Amino acid sequence: MNKKILVTGGTGYIGSHTVVELQTAGYEVVIVDNLSNSSEDVIDGIEKITHIRPDFVKLDCNDKERLSALFRNHAGIRGIIHFAASKAVGESVHKPLEYYRNNIVTLLNLLDLMPEYKADGIVFSSSCTVYGQPDVLPVTEDAPVKPALSPYGNTKQIDEEILRDAIHAGLPFKSIILRYFNPIGAHPSAEIGELPNGVPQNLVPFVTQTAMGIRGELSVFGNDYDTPDGSCIRDYINVTDLARAHVIAMDRMLENKSEAPLEIFNLGTGRGVSVLELINAFESATGVKVPYRIVGRREGDIEKVWANPRHANQTLGWTAAETMEDTLLSAWKWQKKLRERNIQ
Ligand code: UD1
Repeated sequence: MNKKILVTGGTGYIGSHTVVELQTAGYEVVIVDNLSNSSEDVIDGIEKITHIRPDFVKLDCNDKERLSALFRNHAGIRGIIHFAASKAVGESVHKPLEYYRNNIVTLLNLLDLMPEYKADGIVFSSSCTVYGQPDVLPVTEDAPVKPALSPYGNTKQIDEEILRDAIHAGLPFKSIILRYFNPIGAHPSAEIGELPNGVPQNLVPFVTQTAMGIRGELSVFGNDYDTPDGSCIRDYINVTDLARAHVIAMDRMLENKSEAPLEIFNLGTGRGVSVLELINAFESATGVKVPYRIVGRREGDIEKVWANPRHANQTLGWTAAETMEDTLLSAWKWQKKLRERNIQ
């Protein structure tokens, strides 16, 4: 079987870890990325881990003509994993048009081209953000989608609807939508990891940069939530665990293991962890203190959300295997590697 896969956003955080798992599983990978939030050096990291250098084309998926040329020049692409997107919730409020263009037009371009080049399936990166604050926890895939709180969240909802309508209309491909909870950590080799641009918006990069002394202290956004210690609760999922799920999803579509043309899976551990618990877990795993201060709530934050991952566990045979401790240690090892390389 020809196993050529296009990975958009393949030099990004989740994308790069997924390319490693795809190549390890025997897939031939073509990466496209516009490098707006990543670097070509990531390709070296992937090669160091897998001893295979993926094909890389610097390209913006908004450019349909060049995207079409890419499909022509790399004949036989059977599946797509679409990571390429803008992902900063706060920024999306100030740059809505950029977010709608980057996160929606790119998907439309790919879906337009798939039938022409006979690609059989697309895995789409969605987010637990579509659930808003769920009424029932842990949250299952059939929980209602709540009105989005940001243009970013809205793009994920619209993309899911586009896929649903395209499949409903009988377009000739399958799709699996993966709703990620909070991906953290880095590859255990520390050859690839998360590389935030500027001041990190996400919790774990801020924790590791504070532990390294790059940031003076971490702001904990609120301790007056209705949770046991008052800080927000999330489901933190190891990025390599998350990456493995994409390989299983791709196998499932290309090998026709399911009749359903569209499936949706939560990818989380099933365990809710508060911000303060995560800081404690980091300190005890690494032995390094993280100075922090409680500040006011961050606008738009959900109080608590964690996954019911049973559908992915039972249907895909996938479970989150890594412990929180090992995952935080991998994030710390990556941060130390960045320091060695004078990157951060
Ligand atoms: C958000 C989005 C998610 C998106 C992700 C991408 C929502 C509800 N969630 O996740 O869909 O995929 O960003 O970036 O829109 N925190 C601090 N101090 C910090 C940073 C974070 O206390 O300096 C807290 C936050 O209040 C939150 C938790 O840590 O409770 C996790 O925050 P973060 O890592 O930013 O992820 P989400 O906001 O959950």
